[in-house]
Amino acid sequence: MSRIYNFSAGPSTLPEPVLLQARQEMLEWRDSGMSVMEMSHRGKHFAIIAEELESDLRELLAIPANYKVLFLQGGAAAQFSLIPLNILDGKSKACYVNTGAWSEKAIKDAQVYCDVVVSASAESSKFTTIPDYSSWVLDEQAAYLHYTSNETIHGVEFTDIPDSKGLPLVSDMSSNILSRPVDVSQYGLIYAGTQKNMGPSGVTVVIIRDDLIGHASKVTPSVFNYAEQSKNQSMLNTPATYNWYLVGLVLKWLQAQGGVAAIELRNIAKAAKLYQAIDQSSLYHNPVVVPYRSRMNVPFILADENLDKAFLGAAEANGLYELKGHRSVGGMRASIYNAMPEAGVDALIAFMAEFERTH
Ligand SMILES: Cc1ncc(COP(=O)(O)O)c(C=O)c1O
Repeated sequence: MSRIYNFSAGPSTLPEPVLLQARQEMLEWRDSGMSVMEMSHRGKHFAIIAEELESDLRELLAIPANYKVLFLQGGAAAQFSLIPLNILDGKSKACYVNTGAWSEKAIKDAQVYCDVVVSASAESSKFTTIPDYSSWVLDEQAAYLHYTSNETIHGVEFTDIPDSKGLPLVSDMSSNILSRPVDVSQYGLIYAGTQKNMGPSGVTVVIIRDDLIGHASKVTPSVFNYAEQSKNQSMLNTPATYNWYLVGLVLKWLQAQGGVAAIELRNIAKAAKLYQAIDQSSLYHNPVVVPYRSRMNVPFILADENLDKAFLGAAEANGLYELKGHRSVGGMRASIYNAMPEAGVDALIAFMAEFERTH
């Protein structure tokens, strides 16, 4: 067996100890006599997995008691519609900040349900920055303010929590959740797909303040109604049981790493050395304004795009995979989530230097 370094934006690399433990427990979980995949979600064994999953996430993110944690299906993309359906609460407007491709998708879906006030947009910069907070236009009649804390495609990340001027703050944290500490109490709702920093795809985490639950529009499907799912411990329908288990293993791995504060230090170090290598070279370029460069997704373009194919081919020959940038922006992208070891980043940097030298 030889495992490559996988820089995919998601589904993405998982911690090796997690995969090994899943392999070891494949046929029998603890002393249950069965695989997690075979367990009833209502049974006593799965009850333990579900309870540990929620309590570990609560501990890692220090989620206050007045927040519910839901584990849903449909991906983060389903939340683009489910958030307005569940929390508009009769209001006709919601504010959205547009910082890249994922904000745009969230805006487009929300427009079906309400008037979207675009409070700020970085489009004119080709999504290489975050508009200064002082320029944001917030509408006090709006139901909430939505922003994408890390733009996975454009590689732009918020460094702090924007001031929502009293509007419930909603954040898509799909690609940076658990990579840095976050003060959950500042938010009305946080959501994230699991396939970047939390495990495989198939689960969407929604962390929501109590008072925002219970106001869903009548047309909301029951399985996507936060109040219904909350009352039923996210088991109104059959959950993605094996994926819950795998997310649980990733959370235990993260605890063993020292938690979110400890992993943040490693993320800072990994990103700093990769950006430094890019900035020092004359072949590679990252267009994002320095303070807003993502620690998780590092896009870069080559000075001559005719070299792209050779770069990707040579990278794979060196065990470095999934470096092709998103088709909408081109170039390259290295996603370096929590589970990417520093050695993987070092190997990428060494390869990039060698490729530059020989081209
Ligand atoms: C920031 C962000 N939001 C939403 C999504 C959509 O997630 P899903 O494919 O789980 O629906 C992605 C997927 O990459 C993402 O990066």
